[in-house]
Formats: sequence, C-alpha cells, structure tokens
Amino acid sequence: MTIQEIYELAIKLGTEADPRGKNGVGKYLSRQKKAYDELPAKKKEDFDLESLKNPYSDTRVLFGDLKKKVKKVMAGIDFDAGEVVLADRLNEKGENIDLLIAHHPAGGALASLHEVMDLQVDLLASYGVPVNVAEGMMTERVGEVRRKFGPINHYRSVDAARLLGLPFMCIHTVWDNMGWRFMADIFEKREHDTVGDVMDILRSIPEYKQAIKYKAGPSIYAGSEKNRAGKVAVAEFTGGTEGAKEIYERLSQAGVGTIISMHTSEEHRVEVKKHHINLIVAGHMVSDSIGANLFLDELEKRGIAVVSTSGLIRISRVKTRKSR
Ligand SMILES: [Fe+2]
Ligand SMILES: [Fe+2]
Repeated sequence: MTIQEIYELAIKLGTEADPRGKNGVGKYLSRQKKAYDELPAKKKEDFDLESLKNPYSDTRVLFGDLKKKVKKVMAGIDFDAGEVVLADRLNEKGENIDLLIAHHPAGGALASLHEVMDLQVDLLASYGVPVNVAEGMMTERVGEVRRKFGPINHYRSVDAARLLGLPFMCIHTVWDNMGWRFMADIFEKREHDTVGDVMDILRSIPEYKQAIKYKAGPSIYAGSEKNRAGKVAVAEFTGGTEGAKEIYERLSQAGVGTIISMHTSEEHRVEVKKHHINLIVAGHMVSDSIGANLFLDELEKRGIAVVSTSGLIRISRVKTRKSR
C-alpha cells in the first residue's frame, strides 16, 4: 500500500465507525463546503482544502511522499522526537520502517484538534440530550480547547521526522471512532445488572487484561461494583478530547446510568458524582490501543508489518501475523 492508500483507508474506516453515521458525516462535510463557498477569496487561500473531503482534522499525513510504498510501519500512541529517533535507530539496525503512525496528533492536526469535537454534539444527541443543548454546551468548550492547545510546540516531532526523512502521519479520531464502535457494540446493545457486571466484561477484553497486569486497567471513579448499572453509554471514547462538564446533568436526565470513559479529569468526576452517574474509567493508553489494533489489523491483512511502541498494547486479531 502507498501512504495515500493508508490515509484513504483511515478516512473510510473512521467514517464507517463514526457515531454520526455515514449520513451525519456527509452532513458535516456539506456544512464545511458551505462555509468554504461563503468565504471571501482572500480567506479561501488559507482554508485547509483537505477538510472538505476528510472530516477528521486530527488525522493527517504530516510529512512524506504520498506515493511511497509501505511495507512496515512503526505505530504507537504518542510520538515525540524521541520516537522518531527511535525509528531511525531501528532502521540503522536494519528494521526498514517506512512510515510512522502516531495516535495522538502532532503538527497542524494537533493545533486543529478542537475541530473534530463537533462529533460530540451528535454523540450526545444519540444518548438522548437535545441536540441544541449539546451544541450550546460544546461551543464554549471547543473554544477552551482551541485556546489550550494553541500555544503548544506542535511541530517538534514533525520537524524531527522531516530532518530524518521519515514519513509520518497521525490517526486520531479515526482510531477513537473504531474503538468507540467496538465498545458500543459490546456494552450498549444489552442490559447490565450491576457496574460489577460491566467491569467483568471489560476485564475479559484482551487489551484490558494486559493493562491490568501493567497496573493501568479499568477503575471505578464514581459509584461502586454493587451499584445498578442502568443504561450504559460509552460516552467518552471519541470526539477529540474531554467535552463540557455541564453535560452530565443532561445525560443523567436522559437516563444514562453508567459512563465508560477513556480518561476523566477530577473536575468532571465531581460533576458525574453529583448527578448519580456511575463512572468507569477504562484507562487511557489501553483504550486508545483498542481502536489502534482494529486499524493495524487492517494493515496486516493487506501485508504490512507493524512494529508497536509508545504505550500501544498491541493485540492482533489477525490469524497469521509477522509483526511484533
Ligand atoms: Fe484516543
Ligand atoms: Fe488518547
């Protein structure tokens, strides 16, 4: 596969797993197109044209020739200059890594992370929060995220990759969508008696089994194993980053009894507790690994070897594999 084909596969699989559905993603892209069309010519020059066909601002090829053929990738959760140098060292030892794939975004994909948060509006609406309320609450939060990520040194790892001549991409919301879909299919399509029952299923998933051994497995942040689970929502697995803390009151009113999240800040935990929702924090690196693994399996099926690093708990669901 070429880098271009991997990038296109990411958009395709991310869209298929998207909580907005293919229709919802289509509507989002048309809103983007309308916004672009209405821009004055001067502003059109600076518009990111890629965002008219790729609904994920945090999923981009950051450096490299799109036509380059890829036989082996190094994939992981966070890629700083350290991981880029690691790949270069491995190549010196004869590894032949053709492409770096990070989950958490870098470069412009990090600076524009807030743009994917629009997805959370539809996700929250699917759990019963009126769409206008979800949108109202998210608007303020999106601004906060934009300002928070604004001053970061976004291009450090991209610059390292450029200097070492290593093609580099990041796949963020696409993998989180795939992880969300996998988890929602397991947890949201059936009833659960207690939070403990939900935890039992979580602990049986191979990635989480491994994370428990690493002391970084699922943990209950609000409620207890004995609590009734009520309606379970995998509400905090995708959509860029943590949403608005005011939303828990609405989720509680909409009948959500238990939230499964990847990670939750203390500020949000206090709000969750106040509204009597049980909160299972499944674990950050391990939950990011779920979506990563589903995507990397698709690369393996297409003959690409995967070297995993940077916190990725690599579990392959492909029978014959050459990777490690
Ligand atoms: Fe993630
Ligand atoms: Fe993450």
